[in-house]
Amino acid sequence: MTETILVLNGPNLNLLGTREPDIYGADTLDDIAMKMEERASELGLEIDLRQSNHEGHLITWMHEAQGSDVKAILLNAGALTHTSIALYDAIKGIKLPVIEVHLSNPLAREEFRHASFVGRAARGTVSGFGALSYMLALEAAARL
Ligand code: DQA
Repeated sequence: MTETILVLNGPNLNLLGTREPDIYGADTLDDIAMKMEERASELGLEIDLRQSNHEGHLITWMHEAQGSDVKAILLNAGALTHTSIALYDAIKGIKLPVIEVHLSNPLAREEFRHASFVGRAARGTVSGFGALSYMLALEAAARL
């Protein structure tokens, strides 16, 4: 059975490519998915990349990943990173490792982005490298 890396993306990340490209880069989420799938196949893994603007979808997808072929979860929760105790609880509540991912470096931006409920529960964080953050997180996930 091929193990899967579940890549969950939260609010507004469907707009990647046109959304503040000076901060988030020119890659769309589909571009990122394609690059990840290429590398994942070299690593003998599969990618399941999803996006939702709804917090509950992200939580349900994390719950459902348990007991499936998912090896690890990469989570870019967008702005929910900074507000969601429900995501914190979901990460704490499952046994799968969760890696926090950000395109930008929230610590180098506005004060309200400095707190991360996701980061408090995650195994580790990769941020600040644009689309490369996802690729680096994939390398880490493959080695867990
Ligand atoms: C983000 C950083 C968040 O602060 C922001 O709300 C996003 C994107 C990132 O990938 O850099 O939506 O998670």
